[in-house]
Amino acid sequence: MDLFLLSLFCGAGGLDLGFAQAGFRTVLAIDIYKHAVSTIAANFPRLEAVQADLCEPETLELIISRIRSVALTMTPQRLLGVIGGPPCQGFSVMNASNGDSDPRNQLVFRYAEILREINRLFDLDFFVFENVPALVSRKYEKYFTTACSMFESAGFQISYDFLDSIDFGVPQYRRRIFVVGINTQHDVRFDFQRIARVGGSPKCVGDVLRGLPSLDVSNDYNRQDFHPNHRSMRPYSPKIAQIEPGDMKRKSFKRLAWHLPSATVAYGHNEVHIHPAKGDQDRRLSTYEAMLLQGFPQDFEFRGPLTAWQRLVSEAVSPPVGKAIAESILEQLGIRL
Ligand SMILES: C[S@@+](CC[C@H](N)C(=O)[O-])C[C@H]1O[C@@H](n2cnc3c(N)ncnc32)[C@H](O)[C@@H]1O
Repeated sequence: MDLFLLSLFCGAGGLDLGFAQAGFRTVLAIDIYKHAVSTIAANFPRLEAVQADLCEPETLELIISRIRSVALTMTPQRLLGVIGGPPCQGFSVMNASNGDSDPRNQLVFRYAEILREINRLFDLDFFVFENVPALVSRKYEKYFTTACSMFESAGFQISYDFLDSIDFGVPQYRRRIFVVGINTQHDVRFDFQRIARVGGSPKCVGDVLRGLPSLDVSNDYNRQDFHPNHRSMRPYSPKIAQIEPGDMKRKSFKRLAWHLPSATVAYGHNEVHIHPAKGDQDRRLSTYEAMLLQGFPQDFEFRGPLTAWQRLVSEAVSPPVGKAIAESILEQLGIRL
């Protein structure tokens, strides 16, 4: 069976990658940010990635014409889904200036509008929506409940729950809210309890960062000969050397510990976590290291400047979480590959 996806607000494609690992093929990925699109192009050679504003009517026309041409090649048994996480900064507790006036918050509704239109034309089977937990806080709950009503009136039976990357073999605490909608024609309500978690003790920072090449903190903070993203920010701050591993008290100077999972990879304002090797690696993590803490494979590459890498890695869904959701959707729809 062919498993097709449309990816909205794709970012670096963390969610896409998880779905790809479960056997899906993204036929079109859209993001307004050029470094997201170039990152997708570099890592998913068969995928058409387009830089476009999803608020513009022309972008919806582009989506429709792309699916129409792919639909010609689809077998009747195909599965078609939409995945995406609209920007969450407007809802984030990290954003002090957030509030109802943030125009990014309207994008959750735009996601629902696009979903309705695509479902009307092509009979979608499912969608997956991801966001920060603050979306269901008292302050922003009205966005969430309105979006859920829109998902339902677009033709989906929905369910939602929080998932934490730590439960999926990723050495990081990262709690996010997911909504999964299944077309009412399937008569299936997605059950989050049936998603397979990775048992045993949680993975820790040392499990993925130990043994990587050191960066020269007296010089260039750079081992791009090893991996293009194994580079860290400068300049050196003398304060970093004083922070103990596991000390997470200061907002801008949190230091990871080898034997613990990482705190959430979310590096707004350049507040990248500090490497656990005190005295040797008194520096912030390289993006390559952050990428491994997010569960990306070692050969993934972020494109653009360092600030773009940091943004993309911070905003991504941990791919193993996407993979587990994708596999459970297949299982709950009774599809065996
Ligand atoms: C939370 S990130 C998505 C991360 C992605 N799900 C992943 O797993 O890597 C949200 C994305 O929405 C994009 N975006 C924001 N406004 C947009 C718009 N008007 N049209 C298209 N993309 C937009 C941002 O550039 C950002 O990459």
